[in-house]
Amino acid sequence: MKREIIITADGSSTIHIPEWNEQYHSKHGAIQEAYHVFIKHGLHQSCHVEDIRNTDGSKISILEIGFGTGLNAFITLLEAEKINQKVNYVGVEAYPVSLEEIKQLNYATTLNVTNKDSFFKKLHNVSWEESYAITDNFKLTKRKQLFSEIKDEQAFNLIYFDAFGARVQPELWTEDIFQIMIKALKPNGILVTYSAKGSVRRAMQSVGFLVEKLPGPPGKREMLRATKHSTKVMS
Ligand SMILES: C[S@@+](CC[C@H](N)C(=O)[O-])C[C@H]1O[C@@H](n2cnc3c(N)ncnc32)[C@H](O)[C@@H]1O
Repeated sequence: MKREIIITADGSSTIHIPEWNEQYHSKHGAIQEAYHVFIKHGLHQSCHVEDIRNTDGSKISILEIGFGTGLNAFITLLEAEKINQKVNYVGVEAYPVSLEEIKQLNYATTLNVTNKDSFFKKLHNVSWEESYAITDNFKLTKRKQLFSEIKDEQAFNLIYFDAFGARVQPELWTEDIFQIMIKALKPNGILVTYSAKGSVRRAMQSVGFLVEKLPGPPGKREMLRATKHSTKVMS
């Protein structure tokens, strides 16, 4: 499918797919959306869930559904430095963007961190299926894989669920997919997504997630956060 680079409302770039009239991020602001959904309501929330910091040498393990342009990975790397939080980041992506496209993305400039642009490049330059320490706090593994083939169990504290919308890929917002996601999460783990569709919320609930509606990023009224509750054994 044809892809083209466009500029969103906050000045940051994203990729547009004309055939689907769909973008990799919100047209109302790619960076604003990514910070709101994944950092504010995802990473920061995970840092506050006590169990997480204590179980794994205070590392947070994140699974990203749709590595795409690497924007979510980049802002997570920046935030991990800022709050001094160690992060193990796994980005799953079946159809990687090309280096030609990556060169046209303006994230380091728009975020005013041109001194960190080498990290953004490194996220893309490291090979697939291997783990790399991009910074002291940020370890990345990119996996070229279909979402339906994910087989991790109790491995992640946090999932960034950033698939294309249900309008264009309804097969990625089903009970089958959320079953894979809930299995991949550790107890008390959370999943955040920009979507607030009723059918998505119900699919999440039917596999056992507790789902909250939260205020959405600019241009969207609401978003969803789903929690995998641990079953407490009563003594
Ligand atoms: C909305 S974009 C992700 C944006 C990304 N998080 C970012 O920060 O740029 C959705 C991504 O899912 C990928 N994708 C679509 N269908 C997939 C599938 N079945 N399995 C794996 N990846 C898929 C697309 O190639 C695209 O990169």
